[in-house]
Parts: sequence; structure tokens; C-alpha cells
Amino acid sequence: MTQTASPIVYLNGELIPASEAKISVLDRGFIYGDGVYEVIPVYARMPFRMPQHLARLQRSLDGIRLANPMSDAAWADVIDTLIARQPFADQAVYFQVTRGVAKRDHAFPVGVPPTVFMMSNPLVLPSAEQVKRGVAVVTAEDNRWQRCDLKTTSLLGNVLMRQLAADAGAAETVMFRDGFLTEASASNVLAVVNGTIVAPPQDNHILPGITYDTAAELAHAAGMRIEIRPVRREEALGADELWLSSSTKEVLAITTVDGRPFAGGAPGPMFRRMWDVFQAAKPKAAATAAA
Ligand SMILES: Cc1ncc(COP(=O)(O)O)c(C=O)c1O
Repeated sequence: MTQTASPIVYLNGELIPASEAKISVLDRGFIYGDGVYEVIPVYARMPFRMPQHLARLQRSLDGIRLANPMSDAAWADVIDTLIARQPFADQAVYFQVTRGVAKRDHAFPVGVPPTVFMMSNPLVLPSAEQVKRGVAVVTAEDNRWQRCDLKTTSLLGNVLMRQLAADAGAAETVMFRDGFLTEASASNVLAVVNGTIVAPPQDNHILPGITYDTAAELAHAAGMRIEIRPVRREEALGADELWLSSSTKEVLAITTVDGRPFAGGAPGPMFRRMWDVFQAAKPKAAATAAA
């Protein structure tokens, strides 16, 4: 039997092997999903858009009324240390803050330190084949709560949505609420209509995606038209192109919807352009950047 070393994780101020990291069964993250989290993609050991992820963490913490246990500089320090301790260059840093350990009672405990956990896994990006051919999605009515703008660890709604896709052998479940596009179970969704990228507003029904923001910025810089506005279901499903965006998917074209080929069944020209500018915007290893 081969034994792989347990990866180093961060738990409450300590860097320890994952196999030794333990939390209490009374942790409110376990009991209630009472916590928030972030995922930062890391290219060539460089975190991508860390300030934006830390700003969103603060926003999520404010949204659940939990004090941030660390300054941005302290977060950056721990993140950098954890990245340096992993054997791989491209990573996905996951970190979560919960409301700590307390006797079970819905109301917030007083004077309880939060639990802070961080790990970093290899960054698994879409395959070349998925980029070239696009991916399949299924659609569903969005039945999640009304604070989808907070990146909370209470993800059961998203888990059930994602499983609908898994059951159908699809990559994602694209959701609609009251006839309007919201997002997918773990990604944002952007459409292309008559040569313009259209994306739903970042209101309480979707997570303000860092990749969505990156795509919007890159679109502006590249002179691609983009409109942020509500997108009706019929407009989304009749769009010229549909894309997914997330920290681990980057941008990915949707080419099958509910088992039927979508938009010709191949990624469109606007997607290919966005994918190219996105790749160019990613941090490069020093040797590549210097070349
Ligand atoms: C529900 C949901 N929407 C959107 C996103 C995309 O956010 P980001 O681009 O910051 O990864 C995610 C990411 O995991 C998500 O879980």
C-alpha cells in the first residue's frame, strides 16, 4: 500500500498535517453551516486577485455579523505560507471562518473565538477538450435562500442543484428565479446576445463572482460590449452564447442545455476571444513571464 504524506493545512493559527487537524462536533460550522468561505485560484504559486477575494470575505463576514479574525495582511501572510508548503504550483486555496464552538443554540454565542481553517488543493482547471467543445448544463428553478450574495458554508441548496447536473452527467445546473437568470450551482452565468455580453446584476440572488468581475474588466479593456442587466429566461436560452465563470472553471462555454445542443453545439467566437484574454491576464511563472 502506498502512503502519501498528509498535506499541510492551517487550523486556528497552526500549520499541521490534514490528518491531525480536528474540530469539535459542536463547531457551529458543523452544526449550522454557520460560517463563510473563499476559494482563491493560484497560478505558478501566485494568488490571483487576492485583494478582491479578501474584500468579498469581509463582505460575507459582515453579512453574517461575524468579526474578521485577521487583517488582510495577516490573511495574505497565512495564504502565502500555505501555498509555499504545497508541492504543486497551481493551487486552489480554500479557507473558511465559522462562528466557533458553543453549546447548541441558534442565537450567536458571546465571547467565542471563530474557527479558521485553510487548505490548498491542486487547481484542477477544465480540460483542453472542455475548453474546445464546451460543457453540458441542466436548468432548474432557483429555490435557494435570498442571500445568495453571501459566500456561506451553508451550501445545501447549491449541493442539491449541483447533484441535478451530476445525475444528468452535466457540468452545472443553471438556475432561473421568477423567469430571470440567476447563476449556476457553483459558477456565474454570462450570455452573449447580438454581440454584447449580458450578465445579471450582482444583487442578493447571485454571488458577486471574482471571475465574473474579471471577465467584465477584461471585456471593457478588449473593447467587447458588456451590459449588466436582468436576463430573462427566454433571452438566456435563446442567446448566441452562454458561459460559466468561476475561479476554478475560469470561463467555459455551455454547448448543451437540458440534453439538447445549444447555440450550434460549439463555443462561439466571443467565448474564444474572452478565453484568450483571460489566459493572457493570468499570472505567469517567472521564466514564462520573462520570455
Ligand atoms: C454559487 C456560486 N456562484 C458563483 C461563483 C463564482 O465565483 P468566483 O468567480 O469568485 O469563483 C461560485 C464559486 O464557487 C459559486 O459557488
